[in-house]
Amino acid sequence: MLAYPRVMPHGPEGAQGRCLFIVLEGVDGSGKSTQVAAVARWLAERGRDVLTTREPGATELGTAIRNIVLHSARPVTPWAEVLLYAADRAQHVAEVVRPALEGGRDVVSDRFLWSSLAYQGAGRKLGSVEVAAANREAVADVKPDLLVVLDVPYEVAHARLEGDPDRIEAEPREFHERVRAAFLDLARRFGAPVVDGARPEDVVTKDVIALVDDLAKGSAG
Ligand code: TYD
Repeated sequence: MLAYPRVMPHGPEGAQGRCLFIVLEGVDGSGKSTQVAAVARWLAERGRDVLTTREPGATELGTAIRNIVLHSARPVTPWAEVLLYAADRAQHVAEVVRPALEGGRDVVSDRFLWSSLAYQGAGRKLGSVEVAAANREAVADVKPDLLVVLDVPYEVAHARLEGDPDRIEAEPREFHERVRAAFLDLARRFGAPVVDGARPEDVVTKDVIALVDDLAKGSAG
């Protein structure tokens, strides 16, 4: 299956070393956006040029797709949902991620391919192999240098959500438990670090930054 089998030696070998593509994944309410900001701040403090981004909705097209996929009043079929997220990703990679990496910037993204494998592959029960196949051209050869899964139990994640639930947030507990289990399974299979996101924010940040520090040290050498 396609879950980053290829290596992408992206970016120029600048003075700061190779630029980095860092992805944070996890269930809704796992604290990704807070940690994305913390990682970006940490990298910027070390003189690196950093771009933060997210899926879905980082481009103009993506904003329209996000609105449809999360707020459509009419039913969206599971495979239409897969393809909408894949379309958002294709545009995101082509318009934002790849140009930034090739231009020497680090990119820190709130979600990427694994969100589709977990939410659509496991949550919607479409299968991770099938969903990965639908994303092949969208992702192309772009591969995270570091992917961190923030793991939070359902009760904790659910309690953190604010406002009216969107189409995905409104899914029942079983759906979100499948998504959480899928992230943990992907992490185990592909050797991605899992950080316990249920702890206080600063403690979580310390663990996430330690992983980024290791990566940055490795890439600068
Ligand atoms: P997110 O931006 O994390 O939500 P919020 O803005 O509410 O914090 O993600 C939006 C939703 O989209 C989230 O419920 C997860 C879902 N999603 C998928 O189902 N598949 C995907 O491929 C992606 C990228 C997101």
